[in-house]
Amino acid sequence: MKNIVLIGFMGTGKSRVGHMVARKLGLKFVDTDDLIVERLQMSISDIFARLGEERFREIEKQVIAEVSAKDNQVIATGGGVPLIEENVTNLKRNGVLICLSANPEIIYRRTLRSDTRPLLRTQDKLERIKDLLESRQLYYAVADYQVDTSSRPASAVAKEIVEFYQADGKSSG
Ligand code: S3P
Repeated sequence: MKNIVLIGFMGTGKSRVGHMVARKLGLKFVDTDDLIVERLQMSISDIFARLGEERFREIEKQVIAEVSAKDNQVIATGGGVPLIEENVTNLKRNGVLICLSANPEIIYRRTLRSDTRPLLRTQDKLERIKDLLESRQLYYAVADYQVDTSSRPASAVAKEIVEFYQADGKSSG
């Protein structure tokens, strides 16, 4: 079966929802950020601080190419993955892309307590979220299906994705 690939901004619930979808469908769950951390034995923050964002994106691209070559997985991707065209091409070849979204205030609340996202480590975090969201809007539009997670429990979002996948997603593309 085709992969289910969750793309979207930080704090939209990709990992949480992805776990649920994988369990419901009996598919393997993979999170590309976790694979990068495992491979480098360094946190995402340390990778950004010590190696820089450019190197992070190179490693991310390699990891995306590797996971794209397999099937029967739910893949939760880092928020910057669709910014690189090659990633989208690789993921689409063998997967259905689902974009999770949420409004800036909700993203702000969901990411407030975690210190794991170097791109959001700024004075005015809400403003930064709004700016990044705007600049990435077009990149997230490449998905086959969009789900707004703003005011819904993860379980409802997971159910909707499973229904879409079973109705259209498995065979689309
Ligand atoms: C990033 C999102 C993060 C992580 C890194 C960069 C981004 O993943 O890959 O901090 O560019 O949006 P999550 O979307 O899982 O937080």
